[in-house]
Amino acid sequence: MADAAIIVEGARKTYGNDKRGKPALDGLDLTVARGTVHGVLGPNGAGKTTLVRILATLLRPDAGRVEVAGHDVVREAYAVRLRIGLLGQHAALDEELGGRQNLELFGRLHHLGTRRARARADELLERFELTATGRKPVRAYSGGMRRRLDLAASLITEPEVLFLDEPTTGLDPRGRAEVWASVRSLVGGGTTVLLTTQYLEEADQLADRISLVDTGRVIADGTADELKAAIGGDRIDVVLRDAGQLGAAVALLPVAKDEVTVDTDRRLLSAPVTDRMAALAGVVRALEDAGIEAEDIALRRPTLDEVFLRLTGHDDRVKEAA
Ligand SMILES: Nc1ncnc2c1ncn2[C@@H]1O[C@H](COP(=O)(O)OP(=O)(O)OP(=O)(O)O)[C@@H](O)[C@H]1O
Ligand SMILES: [Mg+2]
Repeated sequence: MADAAIIVEGARKTYGNDKRGKPALDGLDLTVARGTVHGVLGPNGAGKTTLVRILATLLRPDAGRVEVAGHDVVREAYAVRLRIGLLGQHAALDEELGGRQNLELFGRLHHLGTRRARARADELLERFELTATGRKPVRAYSGGMRRRLDLAASLITEPEVLFLDEPTTGLDPRGRAEVWASVRSLVGGGTTVLLTTQYLEEADQLADRISLVDTGRVIADGTADELKAAIGGDRIDVVLRDAGQLGAAVALLPVAKDEVTVDTDRRLLSAPVTDRMAALAGVVRALEDAGIEAEDIALRRPTLDEVFLRLTGHDDRVKEAA
């Protein structure tokens, strides 16, 4: 891609001296176009933080080509550092200082000079709606406010490329929504964002394209819609009146038994279907013939969770946002 902000080709990384161990990155490939948001979605231990640390020049890859903003992360690490911002999985704020002081400090650490650091701090407080609380010490902030201040700090130097490592993990739904709004506002300004997450909904909401990562490799990528379409179209959901009939109803669906998921609490069966209308008509008829009463029957697109489960074949799934 000519206009790529991030290029990763065959990146490998194994921790420790014993390089025969299990790799954290095992030939990972990824390309991110300028001015887009790219989601890296994967479960615990998939290699997301390792990837971000390599992109941010904090860790060297063992092999592979990795370029950020047109520069090689190993040979031109300094040039890369001038062009990036990083929001780590764990925050680096001073608890006793106010939000404004934290931002000014960051600005001075990045050699902005007192006056520019102050102006930039004010600008960012405003942008993330933190002006009113700028003087309060950070220890008095809510989780969402902290994360927004983190985000502001990572933008002090007006980076071309911003890395966000699980920006909303541990936040309540309100804090998560606040951070999502902030990330969206960034992209309007032309910043390229690579964001890692374990939350399907987060990738679905924010990312233009998504790479599904498992055990150090990309197992699928595309837009959320492409990923959903890739595993074979639609699903049929059937809610029964009587949970006792779930077993009998499974046998009536037009797919192999192990493709049907059963949720007893919700009296729900779900199965992939190929021919939508034929499947719908067939299921309605079969249930009727068997005297099984359905409360609801619907066709829908698969969720990213189902995509992930289908592609990895293991149950160590990414999470639904709370
Ligand atoms: N400093 C380290 N030393 C040794 N092994 C490590 C180190 N950091 C990560 N690993 C291992 O590398 C693999 C990938 O870890 P990584 O932290 O990149 O995953 P992750 O996708 O960020 O997970 P999480 O969602 O839990 O943050 C894991 O098996 C992990 O145990
Ligand atoms: Mg991580």
